[in-house]
Amino acid sequence: MELIKLDKVSKIYGDDLRALDNVSFAIDKGEWASVMGPSGSGKSTLLNMIGCLDTPTKGEVSIGGINISQLNKQELTKVRRDKIGLVFQKFHLVPYLTAIENVMVAQYYHSMADEEEAQQALERVGLGERAKHLPKELSGGEQQRVCIARALINYPDLILADEPTGNLDKENEEMVLDIFRELHSQGHTILMVTHDPTVGDLAEKMLELEHGRLVVNSKNSLV
Ligand SMILES: Nc1ncnc2c1ncn2[C@@H]1O[C@H](COP(=O)(O)OP(=O)(O)OP(=O)(O)O)[C@@H](O)[C@H]1O
Ligand SMILES: [Mg+2]
Repeated sequence: MELIKLDKVSKIYGDDLRALDNVSFAIDKGEWASVMGPSGSGKSTLLNMIGCLDTPTKGEVSIGGINISQLNKQELTKVRRDKIGLVFQKFHLVPYLTAIENVMVAQYYHSMADEEEAQQALERVGLGERAKHLPKELSGGEQQRVCIARALINYPDLILADEPTGNLDKENEEMVLDIFRELHSQGHTILMVTHDPTVGDLAEKMLELEHGRLVVNSKNSLV
């Protein structure tokens, strides 16, 4: 079953900057897909579009059968809240809140600040013991795991990650990738932007952009 479907999607900035140019593809529920391509090729634009943070200039984006291209801000927020967890390269943690409070911010936004659930989400990423630490007291890898916990709080079908290991050393990268492997095995659908071919190779489906165009859409024969 298709969870994500893009049909001839373009995002045009100004007169003619085609950040995305006539992109079509589909991702099945439970699939892990990687998005690769050089800097400026449209990867983040694509992720933001699917993450309901932005809307296309042309074409249609559907998530779970809902055409999100025409939704207003409020409706987009609802789809994002119900279906999507977002993880970024820059951690975007609130510096003066503890790990558990940072996870609860996501919940607060869903108007159900439940400390127990936030604690469980931290435990899912192996940070149960670090709940009361501030971001500055955590390593980069741990901060990224707090972000993943925050993204997991509403049990999203779809996890969108933009270079989630881009700022991490090898050891922390492995730890974060292990969490994604685990989430994948639990049935979450994952769309991950990465510059790193070995990270990209973990995915079942590989997408590659060049100047906003989709130049590769293939199954990964390695997995
Ligand atoms: N808000 C915006 N206004 C104007 N141009 C934009 C905007 N956002 C992105 N662009 C342009 O769209 C193109 C694609 O940008 P995007 O951020 O999607 O690239 P990317 O593949 O994520 O690059 P990187 O690997 O460096 O993160 C770039 O040329 C960028 O300058
Ligand atoms: Mg980017």
